[in-house]
Amino acid sequence: MGHLRRWVPLILILCILIPLSSSRSTLTPEELALVATSFLNLAKTPEVSEYMVRIRRRLHEYPELGFEEFETSKLIRAALDEMGIRYKHPLAVTGIVGYIGTGKPPFVALRADMDALAMEETVEWEHKSKVSGKMHACGHDAHGTVVLVFQPAEEGGGGAKIMMEDGALENVSVIFGVHVTARYPIGTVVSRPGPILAASGFFEAVISGKGGHAAIPQHAVDPIVAASSAIVSLQHLISREADPLDSQVVTVAKFEGGGAYNVIPDSVTIGGTFRAFSKESLYQLTRRIEEVIRRQASVHRCNASVSFDAKPFYPVTENDRYLHQHFLNVAEDMLGASKILDMKPLMGSEDFSFYSEVIPGYFYYVGMKNETLGVYEPGHSPHFRVNEDVLSYGAAVQASLAARYILEHHHEDEAVKEVPQDEL
Ligand SMILES: *[C@@H]1O[C@H](CO)[C@@H](O)[C@H](O)[C@H]1NC(C)=O
Ligand SMILES: *[C@@H]1O[C@H](CO)[C@@H](O)[C@H](O)[C@H]1NC(C)=O
Ligand SMILES: *[C@@H]1O[C@H](CO)[C@@H](O)[C@H](O)[C@H]1NC(C)=O
Repeated sequence: MGHLRRWVPLILILCILIPLSSSRSTLTPEELALVATSFLNLAKTPEVSEYMVRIRRRLHEYPELGFEEFETSKLIRAALDEMGIRYKHPLAVTGIVGYIGTGKPPFVALRADMDALAMEETVEWEHKSKVSGKMHACGHDAHGTVVLVFQPAEEGGGGAKIMMEDGALENVSVIFGVHVTARYPIGTVVSRPGPILAASGFFEAVISGKGGHAAIPQHAVDPIVAASSAIVSLQHLISREADPLDSQVVTVAKFEGGGAYNVIPDSVTIGGTFRAFSKESLYQLTRRIEEVIRRQASVHRCNASVSFDAKPFYPVTENDRYLHQHFLNVAEDMLGASKILDMKPLMGSEDFSFYSEVIPGYFYYVGMKNETLGVYEPGHSPHFRVNEDVLSYGAAVQASLAARYILEHHHEDEAVKEVPQDEL
């Protein structure tokens, strides 16, 4: 693992190689392009790519769920120790924040999530998950400081929010986040400026009636019919109340109640998620979901209680427009303009949005599709597999985004003020 020490010096070397005299605040395009190409070449060398594959396989074999990533956290700290990177720990239970550089501004954060999904892996391979019911299946110096944010609980737990409360973003000007995607070819990067992922919330409702014999419904108050009616009415929130040009989703994904063919149960529990691209639309949905369920229950003589606190609400993930240009510059130098693809916004959501709500942030995807290696299933599928060639691209793009940002902004004392804020 010793050769990995080269990652840290590389940032330093780049800063020293490129003379940063105070008389010159900008670097030539050739000098900046060198950052991107050097990182990709380094990330593709057998030592570095094999190191990344080894770490990735170990993490994959021992998945841990949100806020329980103790072994994962330990492994990351051991790797940081070995590379001589100083860090703070713990934040948000298992989180780590590493620092490369002088501890002076500008601070650029790179975010990585550590948690797995609660699902059973179905891929048969040498490094299959060794933990039943858990799997990693998500598409998860002289002149400045790179801040490595290893956060717990991205999958619905809102780990990012707690990391921030624990000070992970102290002094940080900008933050970058990346996920892999099986929909786009290896060697491509995919993103867009502005809103990229939706805001989300979760709800659960208990609809209570009065149980009884299924053959004598007049003596019971049937919560199954009430819940069914509520579910059908919820569909109209999108089709009849939302602006058709303002994308929103309401999905009831959970319906639990009854256990026999001939017994009307006392109560039924339903639950689901809703998505929108603005706070206003998300709160409007929250209000109406509660109203519709309670009133539909009442139509059927049942009572309903609705709760929204099973999981934290996530904000919209918005990509800063200035950082989008920065991303295009880096990606074009590294991969060529034809490898940068436009993405449509997705109704999925990301707790990266907690960071990008308070500082300029940028979230993008790296493609991993390679048909000669077979079909790669999308994230959150139990058949999810990673084309490990993607690790070199992801690492190189992340490192270049950070290094180049520092090279271009080291002369600004307070970079936060200098970054044009996204006006959306
Ligand atoms: C943030 O900046 C202040 C002032 O320069 C410094 O004292 C503090 O140590 C910095 N925090 C981190 C985490 O580097
Ligand atoms: C609904 O709540 C009211 C008021 O608490 C109660 O009187 C009634 O029995 C409840 N109905 C059912 C079906 O639980
Ligand atoms: C796709 O996979 C094949 C087989 O491993 C490999 O030879 C080829 O270079 C890969 N393509 C890209 C673009 O990485």
